[in-house]
Order: sequence, then structure tokens, then C-alpha cells
Amino acid sequence: MRTSVAIIGAGPAGLLLSHLLHQQGIDSVVLERRDRAYCEQRQRAGMIEHGVVELLRNAGVSDRMDREGLPHDGIELRFDGRSHRLDFRELTGRGVMIYAQTEIVKDLIGRRLADAGQVLFEAQATAIEDIETDHPRVRFTHEGTEDVLECDVVAACDGFHGIGRATLPSAVARTFEKSYPFGWLGILANVAPSCEELIYAHHTNGFALHSMRSDEVSRLYLQVPADTDPADWSEKQIWDELATRFELHNSDWTLQRGPITDKAVTPMRSFVTEPMRHGQLFLAGDAAHIVPPTGAKGLNLALRDVSLLAEALTARYGSGDTTLLDEYSDTALRRVWRAEHFSYWMTSLLHAHPESDEFDRRLQLSHLNHIADRPAAATHLAENYTGLPRV
Ligand code: FAD
Ligand code: DHB
Repeated sequence: MRTSVAIIGAGPAGLLLSHLLHQQGIDSVVLERRDRAYCEQRQRAGMIEHGVVELLRNAGVSDRMDREGLPHDGIELRFDGRSHRLDFRELTGRGVMIYAQTEIVKDLIGRRLADAGQVLFEAQATAIEDIETDHPRVRFTHEGTEDVLECDVVAACDGFHGIGRATLPSAVARTFEKSYPFGWLGILANVAPSCEELIYAHHTNGFALHSMRSDEVSRLYLQVPADTDPADWSEKQIWDELATRFELHNSDWTLQRGPITDKAVTPMRSFVTEPMRHGQLFLAGDAAHIVPPTGAKGLNLALRDVSLLAEALTARYGSGDTTLLDEYSDTALRRVWRAEHFSYWMTSLLHAHPESDEFDRRLQLSHLNHIADRPAAATHLAENYTGLPRV
């Protein structure tokens, strides 16, 4: 089997890259180890930055997002029993879109298959070879048989547990990592959201986030210890704890409850690999970097990476100019490190660290008050949250 660009992984990064290349007349094959239903149902992120909304629109894959997505112009910060709205539109001129990653993946798979794109499900890449030559290849197993995909370039969009990052020679790769002693217990519930905009709540018991998927489906998260088994939390315990963390003084606001349809714990870590390219192997998305979910940058970074990569490959296959490909890693890493800092900062600002004391909590509250009171501080958060146009 032969193609120009071998793409490993049919997550948002791999699928968008394949679509963007197709639009430029560049052929690719996507290898995905899971089946289609699994890829379309795996519950993950939900907030799309302004610039990424534009990217999906320009790529012609935004019809359903524009019909069904929820445009938001701000968020609410809750701390000390009080509520403060940050108006992103006023602070930055930009808003965001609430539209689930599962829906983006469904839209992209539908579009690739409608365009006769080659997406092989249940095709596991097992080795990436000869990346330092002009004829690399990917070995994979599909329907019980071993096969080889010959190509010019390999794009490893295979997430944190893929084989792309591990293929970088150890003499070349450097990794930077931070882990957190807590994770998020995330639920989906069949109940109308109790708010119009997302609520990021700081509480002595820990962080909570109220998000949503539609007018009928809510998505909520609770900070829990890293080793938490979701089975240890009953529905009632989850709703009671959420109600406690979102509680407001002097307000009759209440949290609406409903049946929980999905429940999982996400570990939290910060992780970056440098460089994001070696020879003809390019890393994109979670294959190269992970952020803690506070601030919702993981999905946005993954889509920004492949937008850069598609542009660079378009130049290579068009005029033969490889300047953008040569710059890909440095250009992508500038935005990656900005998002790493923002996600780390939002996580530190809003979570209860098991080793923190009352002094640390007072510092957090002072910082939150500063953001609520001072437009300059609010603008820093708003610009990073809605996504910086250039980094
Ligand atoms: P992925 O979506 O991970 O896709 C990689 C694909 O590669 C997968 O389909 C995988 O099956 C496939 N693959 C791996 N190895 C191979 C192989 N050897 N051969 C073939 N295929 C392979 N971000 C947020 O902003 N907010 C959130 O609330 C949030 N929640 C998350 C919850 C969880 C449980 C996880 C894991 C991530 C979450 N994220 C969240 C992060 C966000 O979802 C990711 O940043 C995003 O999925 C990255 O997209 P990607 O395409 O790079 O990788
Ligand atoms: C969602 C997840 C996030 O991490 C976040 O900061 C905002 C929204 C979500 O899943 O909707």
C-alpha cells in the first residue's frame, strides 16, 4: 500500500489533517486502531476557541457546529460563595463555541468517507521505519493481517499512548513533564444546564466545572484524588458534591439534577516533547503534548498543530518549498508552551492542592478577586481562553 502522507490516529488531529490535505489534492491514509463507534463516542472536550471555529469554517466542516453548537461570550467564576462574569466579547472581541469533540469527530469521519477518503478502522500501527530517509513506512495490522504503508511523510496523530513519540530517537527527543495529585471526575447528564455560560468554581473541597452539550444535556466535572475509581461515587454523592461546590450565598440559584449517562475520571498532567519533528516523522496533538483540562486547550492545540502541518505540506507538495515544514516544530511549540502555561496557571488558581494550606488558599482568592475587579487581569485570562490569534 502506498500514499503520500501516512496518518496514524483518527482522533480530531488525524482526521482534520487528512481532510485539509485532501482539499489541497494531497492523498493520505488514516490508520486507526479502534472501531468507528468507539472513536465517535469517546467523551472528551467541549470548548472550541474562536480561531479554531474559524479554522473549521474555512475547512468547510462547520455546518452542524454552526447549527447545533452553542456560541458563548463569557464564563462565570464562582468563589467564596460569589459569582463574577467575565465578558470575553467585551474584553477581547472574541467568543468561543461549545460543541463536543465527539461531534467534531463524527463530522470529520462523515466528511472523509463522503469524499472517498481512506480511513482504516481497527488498523493498528505497530512500527514506523526509516524516518530519516525519503521513503519511510508504517507497519500495521488490519483484519488479522500484517501490512505496510509506504509514504513520503508520517504524521503521528496517535495520542498520548501512540507509537509516534516513542519512535523519536532518544538522543534527539526531550520531554518535560508535571503531574498533579488530582484528576477530574466528568459526568454527562440528561438534564438542562443550570446556567447559560460555563461556571468555573473554586471551593475548599476542590474545583468544579459546569459545562454543557445542548439545551438538554449537561457536562460537569469535579476535582477528585488522582487514583479515584468512578464506581466509588454514587449519583447522589456526585450531585450533592457538585451542589456544595457551586453554592452561592445570597442567591436562590440551584443546580438541576438528572440521570447520569457517562462517568469517568481523567488524570491530569502537563507534558511536552521536543522537537515535534524528526526526519520525515511529524508529531501533532496529544502525541506531542498534554495539558491539564482546565481551560480546555487540548483539543484546540491538536487542531492548531494540524492546521500548521497541512499548510507546510501544501507548500512542500506545491512549490517544493520546505521552509514551513522545517519551521513546523518551532512554530507549533510556541503555541504549545503558551497553552501549557495557561492550563497550569488556571489549574493552580482553581484547584485545592492536597499540600496547600490556608495561606495558599488566600493567595488564590486574592488572585481571583483581582481578575474579577481589574479588566487588565481579566483580559489576560480572556485572551488566552478564547485563543490568541498569534503566539
Ligand atoms: P486523540 O483524540 O487521543 O486521538 C488519537 C487516536 O490515535 C485515537 O483514536 C487512538 O485510538 C489512535 N491510536 C493510538 N495509537 C495508535 C496506533 N498504534 N495505531 C493506530 N491508531 C492509534 N481536553 C479538553 O480540552 N477538555 C477536556 O475536558 C478533555 N477531557 C479529556 C478526557 C480524556 C479521558 C482524555 C484522554 C482527553 C481529554 N481532553 C480534554 C484532551 C483532548 O480530548 C485531547 O487533547 C484530544 O483528543 C487530542 O486529539 P488527538 O487527535 O491529538 O488525539
Ligand atoms: C469542557 C472541558 C473543559 O476542560 C473546559 O475547560 C471547558 C469545557 C467541556 O468538556 O465542555
